[in-house]
Amino acid sequence: MNRKGENFRTIWLKPGDPEIVQIIDQRKLPHDFQIHDLRSCQDGIHAIREMLVRGAPLIGATAAWSLYLAGLEESTASRHDRVQQAAIELGATRPTAVNLQWAIKRVLAAIAGADDDDLVRLLREEAESICNEDIEISRGIGHHGLAIIEEIAARKPGETINILTHCNAGALATINWGTATAPIYFAHQKGLNVHVWVDETRPRNQGSQLTAWELAENGVPHTLIVDNAGGHLMQHGMVDLCIVGTDRTTRSGDVANKIGTYLKALAAADNGVPFYVALPSTTIDWNIEDGLADIPIEERDATEISHIYGESDGRVLAVNTVPTRTAIRNIAFDVTPARLVTGLITELGTCAATTDGLAALFSSGEHPGP
Ligand code: MRU
Repeated sequence: MNRKGENFRTIWLKPGDPEIVQIIDQRKLPHDFQIHDLRSCQDGIHAIREMLVRGAPLIGATAAWSLYLAGLEESTASRHDRVQQAAIELGATRPTAVNLQWAIKRVLAAIAGADDDDLVRLLREEAESICNEDIEISRGIGHHGLAIIEEIAARKPGETINILTHCNAGALATINWGTATAPIYFAHQKGLNVHVWVDETRPRNQGSQLTAWELAENGVPHTLIVDNAGGHLMQHGMVDLCIVGTDRTTRSGDVANKIGTYLKALAAADNGVPFYVALPSTTIDWNIEDGLADIPIEERDATEISHIYGESDGRVLAVNTVPTRTAIRNIAFDVTPARLVTGLITELGTCAATTDGLAALFSSGEHPGP
């Protein structure tokens, strides 16, 4: 990810101080680029719960680094006990993104049976591997998604390829490159004429505050739209392709993503616009079949809806926009049934959003496959 021409990951060990993990405080973007120190597992829990970090792959990576921080802490309990306790607390931070549980399970498996003396090294190595692998996974998604964009470009030579995305499934949601944005970055770097319609993504505005920011930093042409504009654009032939991310995909290809994704998929189906979901295999929940019945949907604080955050005269403010006695429900995710998904773009290739499609790419039960 670029920022002022400098390449960044979204989480890293502080150079010269291996007891501190550093992140970008995403609550402050796009107004401020602030690096934030995580010095304890509790700091990591806070960062996930309060959304200093967010996006399924980054939530998983932050959990892995938080377990490493738990291993470093001094206490009367054994290191193993501390890490196990931390795993329980971390697992309760956010419900929908399955990468959280996946990363915790993977780290615990890596340290099972290890000596207490070896634990910190193993925790660090596992967190580093999760991050390094995530970057390669995003590259794989970028490569396979690029083929889809190239196919569209071949049908309309010289013309702009308009891609609509929802929420932030960009570099900021992963370790680098992103999932939905990786094909876009690859296409842009290859000189294809891509333009991105960025859904604002109320209530937290991950589209206007994060996706727009990172596309701008990377020089990718884009236009911000309100969440309800996508259907209109599709009716007027102004969208060639939708690509979104996901927080959890069932083995049959149902997709949970930021609230509003389902409505985009419906509009895409009605207008014959291809609707792709870009996902790392770490986001597949092989244990569940029916997304509507079985994916836990996070509900968040009402202030995300009642208040708008923004900058005025150099100061970042939160402004209430709602009568104080009005009830609010802040449902953060929805499920798009597999039948509305044109294809799943994974690090191993693009497949149909079906049990057979996914099984052909990955062996069920394992992350990542095959
Ligand atoms: O609530 P958030 O900001 O964590 O939600 C993020 C999303 O919905 C992303 O689109 C999803 O995690 C895919 S990220 C590669």
